[in-house]
Order: sequence, then C-alpha cells, then structure tokens
Amino acid sequence: MSNAYKRILVKLSGEALNGQKNKMILDNEKLQVVAKAIKSMVDEGVQICVVVGAGNIWRGKLAKDIGIEHSTADYMGMLGTIINSLALQSSFESVGISSRVMSSIEVKAVCEPYIKRKAIRHLEKGRVVIFAGGTGNPFFTTDTTAALRAMEMDCDSIFMAKNGVEGVYDDDPRKNANAKLIKNLTFTDIMTQKLEVMDSTAVALIQNSDIKIRVFNMDNTDNFLKVLHNEDIGSTVSKGE
Ligand code: GTP
Repeated sequence: MSNAYKRILVKLSGEALNGQKNKMILDNEKLQVVAKAIKSMVDEGVQICVVVGAGNIWRGKLAKDIGIEHSTADYMGMLGTIINSLALQSSFESVGISSRVMSSIEVKAVCEPYIKRKAIRHLEKGRVVIFAGGTGNPFFTTDTTAALRAMEMDCDSIFMAKNGVEGVYDDDPRKNANAKLIKNLTFTDIMTQKLEVMDSTAVALIQNSDIKIRVFNMDNTDNFLKVLHNEDIGSTVSKGE
C-alpha cells in the first residue's frame, strides 16, 4: 500500500518505554515493539525523525518538592531524553534500522551535536534521526521540541504516539468514562478549549504551518502504519481554513 508522506516526525512519550514488570526506566520488550513499528514505516520509504520525552526517568513537576529549581529540573529532563534516545538507537539497530542521535546539548563523546543541514543529509540517506536534548533550553517541553524540529526538517506530519488513549478527547478519558474522542480539530480548538494535546508554546509555534498532527494509540503498533496509510483512526489536528 502506498502512502502520501515523504518525511514525518514521530513523538514518543518516555513513559511508554518504561518497564512496569522490571520496574526499570526502560523495558526491552517495549523498545523492540517501537523499533519494529518504526521499521515498518522505514520499509515504506518514509524519512523518519524521532523525538522522545523523558517521563520514565524524571518528572520536572516533582522538582519543587525536593528543592530543585525549575531550570535545573528541566536540564535534568533534557539529559533524560539523551538516555532514551541512545536506548532507542540501540533497539533500532537491533532490527536493522540505520539511525543517528543528534543532541541540542553537546555531549560529543556519546552522540552527534544537532546541526540542521547534517540532520537533513542523514534523513536523505534513509537514516532515522533521533533528536535528543530537547530544544537545548529549559522551560520548553519535548512537545515544543517536536514542533520545532518538525518545522526545521520540513516534515509533512507529526505522529503523536500516545500511551493508553486513542486520540484527543473533550475531557480526560482516564477520569471521565463519557469523554468523547474528537476526530478533527484545529490548533485554535486546542487553545480555546484547553485540550490536552500539546502545550501552548508548541501550538503557538506550529499553528500557522501546514504540518498536520496525527494523535493515536501506540499500544496497538499496527496503528503506526494505519496512520501512515491515512486510515480513519485517532485524531487529526490541522490549522483549518
Ligand atoms: P556520512 O558518512 O556523512 O554519510 O555520515 P555518517 O554519520 O555515517 O558519518 P560520520 O563520519 O559523520 O559518522 C560516523 C559515526 O560516528 C556515526 O555513527 C555517527 O553517529 C558518529 N558520530 C559522528 N559525529 C559524532 C560526534 O560528534 N560524536 C559522537 N559521539 N559520534 C559521532
């Protein structure tokens, strides 16, 4: 089956990679499942960027309780994304995907620094590029990193892979059993209705671009290919008319 995408950015939650069974920050089974899903898209000739969060390692919101200042907590989270990116790279390699980790915070001994034109060359050569280290600045989330890199890399779409929910709802589906899935929405809807898709900085950045965001449940890994083939699952966010 063909798809309409040339280049996409996949946003993964860090929490989706943790091991409930082994109580570790990372679970090999989960990493493998993600790697195989990414491979299924690479095999269709799509160029893939990846941004991963760090919620499996560190929650910035806890910082205040233990006396760590906000910006330091954010730097800790950014370092957490480098750990997750290296783990993802290993699992990608184990299923035969060529990939590069590029970090906005320089840690040259472990991965490449982020250089826009080099990242594009890697993508053109069929390598998956994992963008680590957030935006390189505190006070920004990995959603904002995803929006920023998707725009810089001129991606067609952001595939926002969620853990345990099918897409965007009008209320928290974990708390309200009657919450309704919203299939199509605009960036303005996210702001005005305070919908939990991505934070307002990320929305402000991407809202005038033509990049569409597909939000879907990654628990079923077939969903990655379904979204790639434009099947009617999850939610789609666009700038609207
Ligand atoms: P091209 O040869 O340009 O197509 O790309 P390449 O990435 O294969 O070549 P390069 O010589 O740049 O990199 C070879 C290996 O070294 C790759 O696995 C890179 O990820 C890695 N590498 C390149 N630069 C750095 C760096 O600054 N730090 C670290 N730790 N690894 C790097």
